[in-house]
Amino acid sequence: MTVTIVGAQLGDEGKGGIVDLYGDSADIVARYQGGDNAGHTVVHEGEEYKLSLVPSGAVRGKVGVLGNGCVVNLRTLFDELDQLGERGLQPDVRIAERAHAILPYHRVLDGIEEEVKSESDSEVGTTGRGIGPTYEDKAGRRGIRIGDLRNTEVLRERLEYVVPQKRALIEDVYGVSVDELDNSDAFDVDALFEEFHAFGKRLVEEEMIVNAGAFLNEQIDSGANVVLEGAQGTMIDIDHGNYPYVTSSNPTAGGAAVGTGLSPGTVGSGEVIGIVKAYLTRVGSGPLPTELGGVVGDTPGYDGDGDDEELATYIREEGGEYGTVTGRPRRVGWLDIPMLRHAARRSGFTGLAVNHVDVLAGLDTVKVGHAYELDGERRMTIPATTEQWGRCEPVFRSFEGWPDVDWAAVAAEGYEAIPDNAQDYLEYIERETETPVYAIGVGPGRNESVVRQRAFE
Ligand code: GDP
Ligand code: IMO
Ligand code: MG
Repeated sequence: MTVTIVGAQLGDEGKGGIVDLYGDSADIVARYQGGDNAGHTVVHEGEEYKLSLVPSGAVRGKVGVLGNGCVVNLRTLFDELDQLGERGLQPDVRIAERAHAILPYHRVLDGIEEEVKSESDSEVGTTGRGIGPTYEDKAGRRGIRIGDLRNTEVLRERLEYVVPQKRALIEDVYGVSVDELDNSDAFDVDALFEEFHAFGKRLVEEEMIVNAGAFLNEQIDSGANVVLEGAQGTMIDIDHGNYPYVTSSNPTAGGAAVGTGLSPGTVGSGEVIGIVKAYLTRVGSGPLPTELGGVVGDTPGYDGDGDDEELATYIREEGGEYGTVTGRPRRVGWLDIPMLRHAARRSGFTGLAVNHVDVLAGLDTVKVGHAYELDGERRMTIPATTEQWGRCEPVFRSFEGWPDVDWAAVAAEGYEAIPDNAQDYLEYIERETETPVYAIGVGPGRNESVVRQRAFE
């Protein structure tokens, strides 16, 4: 059986913690899309682990798989594995032969493309990890896959084909001289060959390369429980998010089938859990109708003087809302219900986990964007174009706040111990999304969750 974890908002909903929670009774945790743009936090025995590529269950001794839908930066992966090794962990991580490798030139291109876009204020605010350029090469049929790294002839042939194109792009289109770049090796076939051939050897020696689709299907057939760990979130899905302020993959549940090689039936017959932050955060540019305050450089048109600045700062500090990968302050807003209705539909959530309920404790009033007004009409879900979404005015509903309590004690006692006003808030979310709340996060620690529905039972 599978449990698929999907971000219901804009990423950073606390997916890592919920994968950890539900991964307890799993045998395997597999990522199905994205790469080291993800930053997932797991707190295990008081130790905090920030993981970009290693699937969250792997710190707890589960087999971790990076599926064919992922893009893998092997420098990051081996650094992460080596660092976990220094902390006494030896995660068992396998990578799909069909997954694409992020090459150093992808990162350089990500940076240059963002810089060019910033001249017309149209940058996405990417994580700079080369994610978009790698998926572009995958779709353009000029990518290099993990399986290619084992074969020296194939690797050299692929590099000799693609690197001159990248050089020409940098020099002729962007007008940047490769030789003047700090990392001009990123465009040198011999240097790339040497580094990636060595990565290939290490992957083979450590028996990390697998036909992930075959492996996962066999495991499921023999009764294994598999968590499919989504990265990013529904609103930054390349198809169902707010294009072009999106990542270049499909974090929604359909991506879990395509990105692992499991059938849609297999994924659909398991649980699909939408992870919701009790408010909203966003890293990077694009609209955010329920935004409080703003972040200069990310919030469109924002110059440092917005509404509810104090409240935004309070929530940002209480929630530690700074990027796991980049350290950037996250934009903060009230929960957006049209967004959640959209997410629940697109992924067919069977349950929700609502995190960060503790962060809002102590506020007199907690608001939600219940609907939008657009061109004089009321909208209950997200419009398909980003231009329209940017013009949506939220119609707010207010809830009475709940007190700050001993959340560890609440987690130990269960749902009934959650303050009444917070229960009202959770039940409202259930009604509006037509989805039961399976788990409630009341703190970052593993034991700071109230679980109403266990996985794999
Ligand atoms: P992910 O990318 O979806 O895995 O989320 P991140 O790890 O980027 O961000 C979530 C942050 O919130 C991490 O620092 C978590 O430890 C923390 N966190 C997760 N759930 C809760 C919660 O219920 N309450 C609080 N206060 N923090 C939480
Ligand atoms: P996790 O898995 C939040 C955002 C970036 C940018 C856009 C495109 O930790 O929830 P990219 O580098 O992917 O091309 O950037 O997507 N973004 C995320 N925001 N959480 C993430 O991952 C994100 N991964 C990408 O900020 O706006
Ligand atoms: Mg994150």
